[in-house]
Amino acid sequence: MAYFFPTASHTFNEYLLVPGYTSLECRPENVSLRTPLVRYRKGVEEPAMHLNVPMVSAVMQAVSGDKLAIALAQEGGVSFVYGSQSIEDEAAMVARVKSYKAGFVRSDSNITPDATLADVLAMREKTGHSTVAVTEDGTADGKLLGIVTSRDYRVSRMTGEEKVAAFMTPLEKLVTAPEGTSLKVANDIIWDHKLNALPIVSKEGKLVAFVFRKDYDQHKAKPNELLDEHKRFVVGAGINTRDYAERVPALVEAGVDVLVIDSSEGYNERQKITLEWIREHYGDSVKVGAGNVIDADGFRFLADCGADFVKVGIGGGSICITRETKGIGRGQATALIEVAQARDEYFKETGVYVPVCSDGGIVHDHHITLALAMGADFVMLGRYFARFDESPSQKVNVNGTLMKEYWGEGSNRARNWQRYDLGNSKRLSFEEGVDSYVPYAGPLSDNVQLTLAKVRSTMSNCGALTIPELQEKARLTLVSSVSIVEGGAHDVVLKTTNQPV
Ligand code: IMP
Repeated sequence: MAYFFPTASHTFNEYLLVPGYTSLECRPENVSLRTPLVRYRKGVEEPAMHLNVPMVSAVMQAVSGDKLAIALAQEGGVSFVYGSQSIEDEAAMVARVKSYKAGFVRSDSNITPDATLADVLAMREKTGHSTVAVTEDGTADGKLLGIVTSRDYRVSRMTGEEKVAAFMTPLEKLVTAPEGTSLKVANDIIWDHKLNALPIVSKEGKLVAFVFRKDYDQHKAKPNELLDEHKRFVVGAGINTRDYAERVPALVEAGVDVLVIDSSEGYNERQKITLEWIREHYGDSVKVGAGNVIDADGFRFLADCGADFVKVGIGGGSICITRETKGIGRGQATALIEVAQARDEYFKETGVYVPVCSDGGIVHDHHITLALAMGADFVMLGRYFARFDESPSQKVNVNGTLMKEYWGEGSNRARNWQRYDLGNSKRLSFEEGVDSYVPYAGPLSDNVQLTLAKVRSTMSNCGALTIPELQEKARLTLVSSVSIVEGGAHDVVLKTTNQPV
């Protein structure tokens, strides 16, 4: 006979936190949101990777491109660049994030003087960067001959056939600085000469790096940014259980910091095979999360297979129709609570702590705090990030309201059949996600800071200064359907913003 779970499964909306004792020292500004990203022996060593804020962005076409990855790393989180694109395109996105860093940036747009304007435009389209170095051999460390920026050409007045040598700004007209120049001096030169980019050149005349004005401004304002040991932004990427033997090496070569197997159902032998292949070829040097699971058995399976973190959630995503189409899933809160308990038991038995990521279904900011209190080490968000300027999707005006497009990886639009692959055919036979709009919400930075201010505030109310402390001290209560109604403004007539005051 089939197994019946003894209790109903619940969503975040059905829970509330009950405040604990708040001491004078327990203030939002004292709260640390640092959290482990990959497995480690807790109490014995530090995790090889951590997040400065407990947020990662979903492995989705409408969410995690290189722009969002940079913006999120600046705030202290990590993006997982979507895998439902060609290996080359995904690796190029990762490389763009890695080459974009505050300070000295190795040039990723380089061209020879014999190339044409059309080549410059194609390169700009590919890299998204408008400063192109002209070097003798077209490499990032070739002899510098000049640079091309959008000020050097006027597309409407040119054919595209013009040679770079004819319209570039040549070396003799450029302000450059010698190798070894400090960032402070480089920024002074940029300021004095009103430059956007300063090429750093070796004694032999070879290009070493650029220093960009915009990087410096951003660097100053971002205390939480997440950098690797070379001061480059940390970035993740999604892989699948089909083409990992080609995709993983390309992503590693591009400089990716952490991978995740992106699948709608992770309690699956294919995930084991993929994890084994990665361990066989890279040992522990390549970090890789796996998922998604919604119970203790699924967690233990992936933890035993060596996953660096485990993602929880099936059917709770905002664009998800898996529960309707397949009848599979579990209330996100219940799934998370069970998996977090399994994670703690695994730690007691093995001494290894495997971080848990709650993926999907975060609707309100306080759901993040609830997820952390229920045992998540960090959360993955799709809809939340899709609303921002930096997400890859279009901003559109829908009946006078600005929206961003947001579509599921299981929708026809994304055609990410590998995510839903059970080994039968190379196409989606039915959709598990929808194509939708979400209200446009402006820049990522403002929103993330506001969201995290709320998380810190709630943590203070619970008497917790760190995420582990919250997990230990939090007291949660299920609420009845009647009290859910009470949770919003009620029994008042709300004023709309366009009413006269
Ligand atoms: P959201 O934050 O509620 O929008 O959920 C995002 C999560 O939904 C992703 O991280 C995926 O786990 C999941 N997801 C993405 N695309 C689909 C889909 O087409 N169907 C079902 N789930 C999806």
